[in-house]
Amino acid sequence: MKPASENGERPFDPGLNVQIVHDPLGFQYGPGIFGPKPEYRRLDSIRSSLSDPACSGPDPVYAIAMDVGKEEHRAELQARTLLFGLVTFAVGRLGEEPVRSQGHVHRISSHSGWSPPELYEIWSGRAVIYMQEFAANDPGRCFAVEAGPGDVVVVPPGWAHATLSADPARPMTFAAWCDREYGFLYDEVRKRGGLAWYAVLDAAGRLEWRPNPKYRKSQLVVGPPRDYRELGLDRSTPIYARFEQDPSSVQWVSEPGRVAEHWKNFVPCRVENHRSHPRERGGPGVVSRLGGNSHRSTAVAYGSREGPEQGDRTVKQGFGKERRTEQKIVVVVEDLIFLSKIQQTAKLTSIATETVELEKLCERLAEQQSTAAIILDLNHRSGQALDALRTIKSNPQTRRIPVIGFLSHVQADLAKAAREAGCDLLLARSAFASQLPELLRRYASLPSPPSPLLQGEPRSGV
Ligand SMILES: [Fe+2]
Repeated sequence: MKPASENGERPFDPGLNVQIVHDPLGFQYGPGIFGPKPEYRRLDSIRSSLSDPACSGPDPVYAIAMDVGKEEHRAELQARTLLFGLVTFAVGRLGEEPVRSQGHVHRISSHSGWSPPELYEIWSGRAVIYMQEFAANDPGRCFAVEAGPGDVVVVPPGWAHATLSADPARPMTFAAWCDREYGFLYDEVRKRGGLAWYAVLDAAGRLEWRPNPKYRKSQLVVGPPRDYRELGLDRSTPIYARFEQDPSSVQWVSEPGRVAEHWKNFVPCRVENHRSHPRERGGPGVVSRLGGNSHRSTAVAYGSREGPEQGDRTVKQGFGKERRTEQKIVVVVEDLIFLSKIQQTAKLTSIATETVELEKLCERLAEQQSTAAIILDLNHRSGQALDALRTIKSNPQTRRIPVIGFLSHVQADLAKAAREAGCDLLLARSAFASQLPELLRRYASLPSPPSPLLQGEPRSGV
């Protein structure tokens, strides 16, 4: 198919016989292609994530088709828990903002224990994939990756992200490889009125980035995508064709643990030309031009409106350096057989653990800033595990430490209470035991705590 040739843009051929249609928004599938009727995202449904919830704009804002592919690949896609989705955005703007999706974090998949990554491919128009490490007051590192037809962009596991159309005069369409067990968490983003940076369109139609004051100060890096060679990607082969040629080549999307080392300090855009921008530093925001397909140097590290202090922190910590060192997984487990299994597995995987008595857990967390995660037996003999969990999650100093709780699969009431208390990952005892090596690697290797889990809206589109 040739999805786009508007305004002289060089069409990109993704190697899939799908036609993008605009009135109404959606897709037409050619012979041998399966795909659903599009799901529409209405303007009213995304108002809570817009900077001006009362704004006017196109309605529907975008159309989504989850699970598209060639008939001969149906079984393979299901077996690999992979899903190929399409999204097309309407022309226009949402008040001052460009047309965009809601910010979200991917829910952890039960089959992998990971919040899955996402692999985007822009089919037409101009896109920006905005992403930040955390859906929390401190958003961590923030990036706006500018992309055009044929570009691919990777959102790493656990990051909050949104996609926007950079040109209000043109529709934008993208495809994405996702985990088939997809689910989205919106609550943390909505309660802060969106993500940590939002783009507005100036009079000339250029994007200007502004920090969201509901987050701690942060820096935004704007730039073109990397080649992601470490993930087996390049621009020479469209992402569906890559799967077609070698179905295992994108397996890391649903099994991100296969490439766990690549998610540490992941940088989604080219930064070789990044520079601080003194003129904007301390100013109200940044302006970045999207320029054709040339991808000329637009990777810029900007200071937020609150001044240069944050910039210094990012220069020191931003790229390629471990943010946390000597992190340990704290284990609060009394059952000696189970404890021994955890310790042996940790030894085999060279992951540092520390066994702590429940009664001393909060004291230990207060004394040391070196906790990668907490493994908590919710059936602790003292009966105090739930109280300890509530204490951890209500304390600003400790609430971001991921807690992995396990319990019997029949304890529905306890599971509900643990979720409500903020348990980040809740597993039946048997599932915990079977996933233990992966869980230890996952939580020990992440440069920062993963996002809250098992909450939010389970399957409701981007
Ligand atoms: Fe996503």
